[in-house]
Amino acid sequence: MSQDTKKFKRYTVTSALPYANGPLHIGHIAGAYLPADTYVRFLRLKGEDVLYVGGSDEYGAAILLRAKKEGIQPQEIIDKYHNINKKTFEEFGISFDMYHRTSEPIHAETAQGFFTKLHEKGEFEVIESEQYFDEEHQQFLADRYIIGECPKCGYSEAYGDQCERCGSSLSPRELIKPKSTLSGGTPILRKTKHWYLGLDKYTDWLKKWIVEDKKGSWKPTVYGQCKSWIDQGLQPRAMTRDLAWGIPVPLEDAENKVLYVWLDAPIGYISSTKAWAEKQNIDWRPYWQSEDTKLVHFIGKDNIVFHCIIFPIILKAHGDYILPDNVPANEFLNLEGNKLSTSRNWAVWLHEFLEEMPDKKDVLRYVLTSIAPENKDSEFTWKDFQARNNNELVADLGNFVNRTLILTKKYYQCEIPARNELSEYDSEVLEELQTYPEKIGSLIEEYRFKEAQFELMNIARLGNKYLAETEPWKKSKTDPERVKTVMNIVLQITANLQILMKPFLPETAEKLSKMLGKSGAWEEAGTSDILTAGHQIEKPSLLFQKIEDKEIEQQIEKLNSSKKQKEAEVQAEKKAEKSDKEAIEFEDFTKLDIRIATILEAEKVPKTSKLLKLKLDTGSEIRTVVSGIAKFYKPNEIIGKQVTLLVNLKPRKIKGIESQGMILMAENEDGKLAFVSPDKTITNGGGVR
Ligand code: 2FM
Ligand code: ZN
Repeated sequence: MSQDTKKFKRYTVTSALPYANGPLHIGHIAGAYLPADTYVRFLRLKGEDVLYVGGSDEYGAAILLRAKKEGIQPQEIIDKYHNINKKTFEEFGISFDMYHRTSEPIHAETAQGFFTKLHEKGEFEVIESEQYFDEEHQQFLADRYIIGECPKCGYSEAYGDQCERCGSSLSPRELIKPKSTLSGGTPILRKTKHWYLGLDKYTDWLKKWIVEDKKGSWKPTVYGQCKSWIDQGLQPRAMTRDLAWGIPVPLEDAENKVLYVWLDAPIGYISSTKAWAEKQNIDWRPYWQSEDTKLVHFIGKDNIVFHCIIFPIILKAHGDYILPDNVPANEFLNLEGNKLSTSRNWAVWLHEFLEEMPDKKDVLRYVLTSIAPENKDSEFTWKDFQARNNNELVADLGNFVNRTLILTKKYYQCEIPARNELSEYDSEVLEELQTYPEKIGSLIEEYRFKEAQFELMNIARLGNKYLAETEPWKKSKTDPERVKTVMNIVLQITANLQILMKPFLPETAEKLSKMLGKSGAWEEAGTSDILTAGHQIEKPSLLFQKIEDKEIEQQIEKLNSSKKQKEAEVQAEKKAEKSDKEAIEFEDFTKLDIRIATILEAEKVPKTSKLLKLKLDTGSEIRTVVSGIAKFYKPNEIIGKQVTLLVNLKPRKIKGIESQGMILMAENEDGKLAFVSPDKTITNGGGVR
């Protein structure tokens, strides 16, 4: 990846605004928050003018669906999860300058301002079309209100706006076998009008701005997705919705219409900036409107089209805004062999982690950066978490720092010794030390956090090797002057680690700075005089603790049992749904003509595995019925059996056979079917009531 040559005066860094409809898990953190936080900590350390904004995404179908599920108002949902997530980010140390909310008035004003400006510039086309509508809920179905089969990959639960399996951007009319997520029923089509942004008109501009200019500087995964969208041909996209929850469209002829959540959400970065600037009493505009500002969006791969194509078109169409310099989207993180899933409760929830392992925040940061899904999906396992802690943080970094500080205490009562003449090996080590700030810094600037952190650990490895080869513990009595030099060098390495670890392991850096009595500045990194001779350090304590098998086993067990609990809940919900049918009048029941009949003949329907063709004596006639019971009964077992038959069901053709009625079956929990039969013989044709 080529490195930026342009010098920017300031940085505006954003992380995707999470929907305020649920708590955060490690997949969110690894995708859009930890890399951004590492990046901004690095920039701040270098003294750059950097603004890091985020907040809650509080409109759209995701919120309404959650509110419906919990049986409460959307406002309650967003208040609950905004507060939980804001606190979780703070506790984990994601260092937003502002964590805002899209339900704030300043956001509505900003988003409406964009809409109005684009409207005045003639960017929208009002199109009336037929859209899916749920008759039971009297609501149009867009985005997440509708699911169906993805026309691109066949996934059966693709949303109306996007397939979460293959990432394709979709429209509801493209879905195969569409279903309303509100009622579960098949929607009808109804006319409605919307304001469409002509994305297609920007194709040539995108070909230059992305396909030509971003080649080599944007990640191949991000660039590839964008190029494929552009190559496939962009379509106009509706920027309004018929929903009761959202920011009103600021036009007179748009009653009951709200802004599309993907129009308003990215504008949330701007309103978050405005809210921050207002608090500081400074001007927000340079952070969004000045060419010498570098704008970087950190997101997960499912948000690429919105941040790389749609939002830039909106910014470009507006005319007053800068465009993102880079969008270093991450791929997905999996957990113990499976996709992270909120609905299946297959996740490590961050707020729970913070409660259960409050002293392991940096360990989680370290592990998530080590396995960051930077270029492909990756996997978190608890065993790996333990191994990286024990074999890398404890054995490499912690061990080096601890040995250095313990020996300093032992030989010099915590006072930094002065260096004497350097050996060739000493000089080589100090020279290598000098190279790290540049190496680490460049990798961070190229969004290669995993490699950058690996280089950080190489400094500890360098220190361990130096200690092992110089063996100061063997020479403290015989050659004390040499040992002073060696100890001074390992102390300078430690001080370098303290500075360079700040973006990655902020809590550990803080702890080490207390022990060293010094928190170095970025400019000092690479040098070998950060700790001056005679300086007194504190008594050392361990930076990292070993994680025992028991702790990890507990976590794995918790994961499995919460998944099982969730499965049981889902089953129970399904059962409840089944028994929750609407009440009917007695007259409705009397419409059903249900009678006892005897099976006279039974045979398998050729080329099917489930169907039997039955002949039944209903007392007054012989009826043919096709029934899906072949998996549960063999034909010869059921001859002579009395069953219950719905006789006045309209005849239907099944596999070319006219089926004249339906046998009533009872269904077991595991899906097995059994006849509903009288416990005494009844004359055929006897009515059931
Ligand atoms: O996918 C999501 O979770 C969205 N809430 C991300 C929005 S990012 C930005 F545009 F606000
Ligand atoms: Zn798909």
